[in-house]
Amino acid sequence: MSIAEQYDASSDAKDARLNIDGESADLPIRKGTLGPDVVDVTSLYRQTNNFTFDPGFTSTASCESKITFIDGDEGVLLYRGYPIDQLAETGKFLETCYLLLYGELPTKAQFDDFSTRIAYHTMVHEQMSQFFTGFRRDAHPMAVMVGVVGALSAFYHDSTDIRDPEQREMASIRMLAKMPTIAAMAYKYSIGQPFIYPQNHLDYSANFLNMCFAVPCEPYKVDPVLSRAMDRIFILHADHEQNASTSTVRLAGSSGANPFACISAGIACLWGPAHGGANEAALTMLQRIGTVDRIPEFIARAKDKNDPFRLMGFGHRVYKNYDPRAKIMQKTCHEVLEAVGHGDDPTLKVALELEHIALNDDYFIEKKLYPNIDFYSGITLRALGFPTEMFTVLFAIARTVGWIAQWKEMIEDPYQRIGRPRQLYTGPTERSYIPMDERG
Ligand code: SDX
Repeated sequence: MSIAEQYDASSDAKDARLNIDGESADLPIRKGTLGPDVVDVTSLYRQTNNFTFDPGFTSTASCESKITFIDGDEGVLLYRGYPIDQLAETGKFLETCYLLLYGELPTKAQFDDFSTRIAYHTMVHEQMSQFFTGFRRDAHPMAVMVGVVGALSAFYHDSTDIRDPEQREMASIRMLAKMPTIAAMAYKYSIGQPFIYPQNHLDYSANFLNMCFAVPCEPYKVDPVLSRAMDRIFILHADHEQNASTSTVRLAGSSGANPFACISAGIACLWGPAHGGANEAALTMLQRIGTVDRIPEFIARAKDKNDPFRLMGFGHRVYKNYDPRAKIMQKTCHEVLEAVGHGDDPTLKVALELEHIALNDDYFIEKKLYPNIDFYSGITLRALGFPTEMFTVLFAIARTVGWIAQWKEMIEDPYQRIGRPRQLYTGPTERSYIPMDERG
């Protein structure tokens, strides 16, 4: 039964009536389990010869989903119904991956099996290491990620047929397993150190930190406080409804493109400073502010309509309250800074004072601009030992499970069709070609 048929069969179905030039169209109103109802405009064009118009999708639901729910006014984030703070407080990232992919928290046996399957796919084809030598050492690691992740489709032909559920499952496992390895390789390549192979006895986050910070010439022990913090940071960034990069993955996947290519498209979109690039931009901004006494100058610039400067790490399309992830991120930030002995980090002092001032400033209150997850993540990731350019790469590692879960949900919807938006055309009406020698 299609989504429309399911709703039409329900007893509480009701319609919205739209009147245009004396014509009317009845548009079904559909209810979800949480959040706003939707007006189903699928038949609008057929009934009225009109399109809807909503650039930026501020009022448009692009799909039905059962994975993640955000209540922006209340600052609530649920993964398959579980509050983010409960998952981040005590759960493991791979546990959240299982939940997002399969819809339920795993039993111990399911978790162990899933963890083992992931561990056994963390290596990449040895030839893939040759891709890196084609990049300059100072290439932005997100450029490397877009290229190397997309190239996975050239190696794993047995998991690119999206119509085969077994190949979809294998591609999902491979993508989750190999992202940290490729990310660590991008980091090692940028600092001129040899690649470190994954170790099956380490858990997901410890394995990633080991691949980034171990060197072949001496033993390396991953600090459990730091790997716990890394795991929690991955949980916080795992999924977030139909954000820009997830919508990119869904649109790419709707054409039947293979999952590796779709994830590469998601990485490219995440790179933007308005989206996943904001953690890198937020730390750079905090460093530019430098000291607490310069905060008013930057607050004034953020409020100045003629100044393109914005407070990076503030504001959100959906959250008009405090981003629940930012609260947990702030707590994790303090834990990591204490663990590495940077409890008096001057950048943190600027961040705390900037947050305090902004949260009490009428402009930010009126526009409901609160710190988002990117505000504290930059300070934390730098304290973990990562350079600023790696911050969005870490976001991409975490978000891969969200992208894959949303891609699977779309592919497995029997009524899924290629995404093909229409437009409001305001260009020239038809006119005739004028030969070059007759043009003025
Ligand atoms: C992420 O979608 C997701 O879920 C994303 C994400 C995820 O997990 O996938 O949560 C991750 O991308 C978080 C957001 C990271 N980006 C930043 O921190 C960059 C700084 N923030 C802004 O660029 C902005 O707030 C956005 C892009 C996040 C949201 O933009 P919107 O919803 O389009 O809001 P807007 O640009 O229309 O702003 C509304 C008003 C404007 O003023 P007016 O034109 O109404 O007078 O608020 C102002 C903006 O000028 N404003 C800011 C501001 N953000 C918005 N003013 C100063 N500083 C800011 N950061």
